[in-house]
Amino acid sequence: ALRLRVREALGARKPADAVRVQGWVRSVRSQKEVLFLHINDGSSLESLQVVADPSLEKRDLTFGSAVEVQGKLVKSPHKMQNMELQAETIRVVGPCDIWSFPLKMKERHPLEYVRQFPHLRCRNNTLGSLLRIRSEATASIHSFFQDNGYVHIHTPIITSNDCEGAGELFQIETSSEGKESAENTHFFNVPAFLTVSGQLHLEVMTGAFTHVFTFGPTFRAENSQSRRHLAEFYMVEAELSFTESLQDIIQVMEDLFKTVTSTVLSKCPRDVELFHKYIAPAQKSDITHKLFSSSCRISYSEAVEILKQAPQTFVFKPEWGCDLQTEHEKYLVKHCGEVPVFVINYPYDLKPFYMRDNEDGPQHTVAAVDLLVPGVGELCGGSLREERLPLLKSRLQRLGLTDAYQWYLDLRKFGSVPHGGFGMGFERYLQYILGVDNIKDVIPFPRFSHSCLL
Ligand code: 4AD
Ligand code: MG
Repeated sequence: ALRLRVREALGARKPADAVRVQGWVRSVRSQKEVLFLHINDGSSLESLQVVADPSLEKRDLTFGSAVEVQGKLVKSPHKMQNMELQAETIRVVGPCDIWSFPLKMKERHPLEYVRQFPHLRCRNNTLGSLLRIRSEATASIHSFFQDNGYVHIHTPIITSNDCEGAGELFQIETSSEGKESAENTHFFNVPAFLTVSGQLHLEVMTGAFTHVFTFGPTFRAENSQSRRHLAEFYMVEAELSFTESLQDIIQVMEDLFKTVTSTVLSKCPRDVELFHKYIAPAQKSDITHKLFSSSCRISYSEAVEILKQAPQTFVFKPEWGCDLQTEHEKYLVKHCGEVPVFVINYPYDLKPFYMRDNEDGPQHTVAAVDLLVPGVGELCGGSLREERLPLLKSRLQRLGLTDAYQWYLDLRKFGSVPHGGFGMGFERYLQYILGVDNIKDVIPFPRFSHSCLL
């Protein structure tokens, strides 16, 4: 028999005689004359309807069981579906104890409920859709950059640099190092950390490639109790040489967002629809709005002025030189009409050492850009990089980092060019386009409690 995926069976143009489908039972409905099953194998949100003679029903043919069905693929008399499978044999490959199985047939479990079962969550429709969207978006991010002539670089996961200088590092050691701390030897002779960003490694590559990108896991030791922070997340980063304007960086952010979002929309329309219908109903049809909405651009100084004139009081008083808090980001997005907001030119002292000095007087700024979006806040962060040796040298000196970053200074001696780039948080991107409130619901494996790490 011809083995078909559910998606293929549903999309088949014509009937077929000997067909075999494997998957998990999503519903069982037994009537006097006929037995109905729905089988799902992860290839699509829609399940395949199986029609069988009641004599094929067995005790262990239940919701959640794994089955293999053979039979005829025929046109379905129902308007809602194209094809259905007329079963000749049904084999239960793996039974499911429905009494202890935490998912129940035809129930729309809340995301908070299924989060408690990280090992079973993928059998739920919402998570199924999320994982297919995540997969398509990943492929589309790679295609976007490849199609635009970027070279993909695998930047290291274990590194000795703290790119962001924020001290949110996970340090790594061998399992014996901790115990023998008296000897104080490191596996690599120097302290090693899980990467917080591949940017500095991409900058190395801009010495030979004009366009590079990376897309990999990133780690931040910050309190991930918030609905938009994770300790482990994926970041897309791009770096462009011969770039003298923030506008070039902003353009790539916009193009990436639009291309990937429209690909996801065209490749998984039903999966996206599920989110808009049941998870974020207020955002219905909003993904197209997000695709075509215009954006707003303001400087950090303008942002602070807007906040100071706001009719509401903030927990953190807006002050030039202070970081924008979540409440401030929210207000700015609202002020601009609930559209994406690019905030540029941040205070010099707020941002990491690598950002390019604007050399612009008393309220001194760097060429940085953050993209703030409705509902999520900061989605992308980027900047022009300081390519001028003397300025970089004196900044690193003031920070006491000259020795550690000798190699980075070197890059400014051998064919240095103006360059810049950005990073986009992949989970925040998914949160934004799908309207998902908690970032834990857009990752494959949520850490829901400290005692149960998968
Ligand atoms: O703004 P960040 O810290 O920028 C960088 O790391 C730059 N080196 C990137 C670059 O220019 N190549 O992080 C970039 C993005 C943020 O805008 C945010 O979307 C996401 O990464 N992000 C997080 N996402 C989930 N959980 C966290 N803890 C995150 N921290 C940052
Ligand atoms: Mg940032």
